[in-house]
Amino acid sequence: MRFFIDTAEISEIEALLPSGLVDGVTTNPSLIAKSGQKITDVIAEICKIVEGPVSAEVTATQADKMVEEGRYLAEIADNVAIKLPLTYDGLVACNTLSQEGHMINVTLCFSANQALLAAKAGATFISPFIGRLDDINIDGMELIEEIRDIYDNYPDLDTEILAASIRSANHVKQSALAGADVATIPPKVVKDLVKHPLTDKGLEIFLADWAKTNQSIL
Ligand code: G3P
Repeated sequence: MRFFIDTAEISEIEALLPSGLVDGVTTNPSLIAKSGQKITDVIAEICKIVEGPVSAEVTATQADKMVEEGRYLAEIADNVAIKLPLTYDGLVACNTLSQEGHMINVTLCFSANQALLAAKAGATFISPFIGRLDDINIDGMELIEEIRDIYDNYPDLDTEILAASIRSANHVKQSALAGADVATIPPKVVKDLVKHPLTDKGLEIFLADWAKTNQSIL
């Protein structure tokens, strides 16, 4: 499973790079707004430090304008994935831009039918929003499972499932179990994945016992 980092904060991405866990980055208009920077500047900066796909989202709502914005964003760097919302216009734009050879991330997916349409329109990634479904008491993980089943039924559909709106370490585990190809994870959750109280406790005991030996390895 690949990990994308769900942030537009350069410092957060830089902090995670040495771990080798960063396979890409996703942004959205809310994350860009939070960064306080110009979208073209942030995306260019992220693309310089991350080799994998970096999602940059259009904000137009009509297909022709989405295509124009998408082409403009894709010019920033070769690894830009144009992010389009799952509307009818978004699908039309996806069809055009994917045929031009651009990477496309279709976002705001909340149903298996939407995911089927995105794949048929040539999406590189489909982003089902797990957390936002959980927020309204619908099991977000069931959606990932349904999309996995549907895509596996039709091997000619090569869209990758990018589990999004991930809020917890458990969401990452469940997405991996359900067969998501990628998870886009907020930096805080990446750090939560590492933690286990028994690891901390075990290390404390090992170090205390080691200190008693008066040895040092170097
Ligand atoms: O990847 C989409 C993500 O940024 C949305 O997350 O927590 O705002 O639902 P959230």
